[in-house]
Amino acid sequence: MAFKSGKVETVSISDGGSSSPPNWCFFGWLLALTQLLLHGALGLVLFWVIYYLDGFGWRDNPKLLFNYHPVLMVGGFVYLSGNALLSYRSFGCCRHIYKKLFHTVFHILAVPAIVMGFLTVWDSRNLSVPPIANFWSLHSWMGLTTMGLFAIQLVVGFFSFLILLCCEARTAALRAALVPVHATFGLITFLMAIATCLTGITEKAINSLGDWYTAFPPEGLVVNVLGATLMGLAILMPVLMLIRCQQRGPSSISSHSSGDQDEESERL
Ligand code: HEM
Repeated sequence: MAFKSGKVETVSISDGGSSSPPNWCFFGWLLALTQLLLHGALGLVLFWVIYYLDGFGWRDNPKLLFNYHPVLMVGGFVYLSGNALLSYRSFGCCRHIYKKLFHTVFHILAVPAIVMGFLTVWDSRNLSVPPIANFWSLHSWMGLTTMGLFAIQLVVGFFSFLILLCCEARTAALRAALVPVHATFGLITFLMAIATCLTGITEKAINSLGDWYTAFPPEGLVVNVLGATLMGLAILMPVLMLIRCQQRGPSSISSHSSGDQDEESERL
């Protein structure tokens, strides 16, 4: 915090313009590490499925049809949604409208991945001989809740930040009020997705490895590293979101110069 011409200015770790280089550097490292984990999670789940679970198959082979499920869910809920959340942090130099565009595009790409991810597990259960019961596990309940939250977020996001823009001036207050709610639930949905993935991974590992899991085989190591990567994301993502939130807190917004206020109104 610093006093300048009678006004209080908050300096946050991510405040590219006014923070000292080490702070900016720290934020950049966190961002790079998070991207590494996002790519690592996608790479590891693909490696697990292709190398240890015999790859992919279609409806005539329900066991291999299932294998799309973890890849598409990690791809949609973790990789694409994670990048959607990060788009407001990664492209610091871009205008807000471009960040919003990246955020929307990543979420739109996540939708088919999630829908296909659900349909493949649903079909693989029902096409098995004999068919396997649906929605009996904690994982499936968590999965349904996460997909529900994601759907609500998508509808609210489209309605409030795209459609309501038609009457920009009249809806500004409503959209401003929705920003923190949307951001909070976005983060909750991401964390729910990580928790769901962790339960799904554990369930599948126990199913496929059985007692051998306790002998710590190479497949078990891959599965555990995948889980640890997801855990790392559950820690880093809120940190990155929170650092920025401090910068946008009421005190910092109210004390910013008129130029910053212009940027703030553009954010809506
Ligand atoms: C956020 C991501 C995920 C969501 C939303 C999700 C959702 C679901 C849902 C709704 C089901 C129930 C399908 C049915 O009963 O017909 C299911 C089943 C299953 N999922 Fe996931 N899943 C996710 C990630 C994963 C991951 C990463 C794995 C890792 C292998 C996995 C493994 C399983 C397994 C083994 C089943 C079948 C057993 C059961 O119903 O619990 N899931 N998933």
